[in-house]
Amino acid sequence: MKVAQEFSRYAPYYNNYNVIQNKVAKKLVSDMRVKPKKILDLGCGRGAIYNEISWELESFLGVDFAKGMLEQHPQAKNITCKYGDFNKEAFFEDLKDENFDYIISASALQWSDDLDFVFKSLASFEVPLSLAIFTCKTFDTLYKTAKLKPLLRCSDSIIENAKVYFDASYELVSYTLEFESKKELFRYIKRSGVSGNRGVLDYKQTKALMQEYPHKSLEFEVLFMHSIPKMFFF
Ligand SMILES: C[S@@+](CC[C@H](N)C(=O)[O-])C[C@H]1O[C@@H](n2cnc3c(N)ncnc32)[C@H](O)[C@@H]1O
Repeated sequence: MKVAQEFSRYAPYYNNYNVIQNKVAKKLVSDMRVKPKKILDLGCGRGAIYNEISWELESFLGVDFAKGMLEQHPQAKNITCKYGDFNKEAFFEDLKDENFDYIISASALQWSDDLDFVFKSLASFEVPLSLAIFTCKTFDTLYKTAKLKPLLRCSDSIIENAKVYFDASYELVSYTLEFESKKELFRYIKRSGVSGNRGVLDYKQTKALMQEYPHKSLEFEVLFMHSIPKMFFF
């Protein structure tokens, strides 16, 4: 497995709360070894993946459970934006009627309730896939300072689970996002949605954490995987 590190600077002027997610989408697409024509994007959001695709597509199916995100996705004749929740069995049943030859998902599957269920369901489509999943090392120092358990799964357990269903290449990338001040850093956490909007600290605890947190930067770790389902070999 490859391991890489990247540094970025947060630019509040541009209101760029998705600076890391945009980098992740760019890398995920640029590392794909094929140029599929019919893509399914899980947790498509406002279209970061679609925006990175430079080749002609027959169809692009973006699925998300946030209607507000879907409304902001690029629209075109070959794009379908569909409401769907990847934690639900019915969601994968519905997808059986859709036509796609590649599955992509960036910065979304860390929020799956049951990753084994999602991997198993994805493998059943028997198409290659490229996924980027945030890991437990995201906000590492922040969690340690707050003496909280990380919300997300660690890369080892994601890989172990993925190996049951896929033959894949894996790459772990650490990102560091620098801020001008701690105030800006905490504002970013609140507004960017990277915490999954799971308010685990109350106002007093957040204030104490702001004082104790030793950096003006945040860590992120993302597992990139590019795979073909195991049954392709049989
Ligand atoms: C951080 S955003 C990433 C969006 C986009 N893929 C990108 O790369 O910028 C995560 C997206 O996953 C969606 N999402 C989270 N849980 C989901 C679920 N259970 N089913 C469908 N979409 C989900 C969110 O609504 C959000 O749009």
